Amino acid sequence: MTKFAIDFGTSVTKIFQLGSGNGVVLAEATCVTVDKLTGDAKAFGDDAKKVLGKTADTEVVFPVYEGEIVDEVLAGALLGYFMSRLGRRGFTEALFCVPCGCSKESRIKYLHVARIAGLSKVSFVEVPYLAALGQNVPVSESNPAFSVDIGAGKTSLAAFSLDGIIAGLNMNVGGNNMDVHIIDHIAQLYNLKIGPFTAEKLKNTVGSLIPHDHQSTIVQGRDITTGKPRQVVVYSEDIIRPISGYVNTILEYAELVLRKLPEEVSAIMCRSGVYLSGGVCDMPGLGDYVAERLQMDAHVAENPHMAAVLGGGRVLGNAALLAKLRME
Ligand SMILES: Nc1ncnc2c1ncn2[C@@H]1O[C@H](COP(=O)(O)OP(=O)(O)OP(=O)(O)O)[C@@H](O)[C@H]1O
Ligand SMILES: [Mg+2]
Repeated sequence: MTKFAIDFGTSVTKIFQLGSGNGVVLAEATCVTVDKLTGDAKAFGDDAKKVLGKTADTEVVFPVYEGEIVDEVLAGALLGYFMSRLGRRGFTEALFCVPCGCSKESRIKYLHVARIAGLSKVSFVEVPYLAALGQNVPVSESNPAFSVDIGAGKTSLAAFSLDGIIAGLNMNVGGNNMDVHIIDHIAQLYNLKIGPFTAEKLKNTVGSLIPHDHQSTIVQGRDITTGKPRQVVVYSEDIIRPISGYVNTILEYAELVLRKLPEEVSAIMCRSGVYLSGGVCDMPGLGDYVAERLQMDAHVAENPHMAAVLGGGRVLGNAALLAKLRME
């Protein structure tokens, strides 16, 4: 039987295949294009995201928003497309990586999507466990860990052991909020309107939390006064505020979670530090920034984008661990 761990992210779907050649077999945009007149899906994944902001008769849809499935039909069609690309045949087991505290209603949506995509046996495990296991954090029943996963649409943060989540929450804050704020910020600074694709690229190339970092890139946009195309050079320091504002909000909540912990757990967290994952943690300087604010060691995953799905693959291959961690 084929088994897949699926991280159906707001921005990127990551799929790990268990079996011959274990590993991540797919990472593509969680995106579908739809014909505005007929309502038919036209393109899926990276092919769909390529046309973002460039089309007239085509609507670009992201069926997962802030970590929640918002369009079950398109989400099912997209997942079915990814599955067919992977040559899935017959009975298929899937583990979904879901946000911390994922509600029963949300899980029912996942079940509908899984059915449309032709998946037969489905289980759910929360991201904090998976992100930590995907980074090989030495977590056990008696050894808790603190994990923060900052994705595109949400942040899952929790202190937990393999016995359960001690304190945790899911916030609708992530890289997408930073992109939107960067668009407003560039408009104010340079009187230039840029698109969402450009804002994300800008954040991912020169975005930095290293103090006085001086990376730069040329950005194309439209002059707000004249309406004409124009380009400017943007530096890391120009966009640090829209980025650090959201990171600070996340860290305020991380402190709240840390304050809720029993003394013994708190002492272990202070020694072991915080484990960071999710695509936003690829940003230079983020680890040091978090370490300074939380006054604890911060460990950034080797591959922050893939930590949760790698953990999913690990849990899927261990029946006892899956039985322990799966949500009922
Ligand atoms: N170098 C980088 N610096 C900052 N952000 C980055 C970088 N590279 C990617 N990102 C951002 O990381 C996010 C994608 O990360 P990830 O794949 O973990 O999210 P996701 O799983 O799709 O979303 P979510 O977990 O919120 O549902 C996007 O917002 C992307 O712009
Ligand atoms: Mg994610």
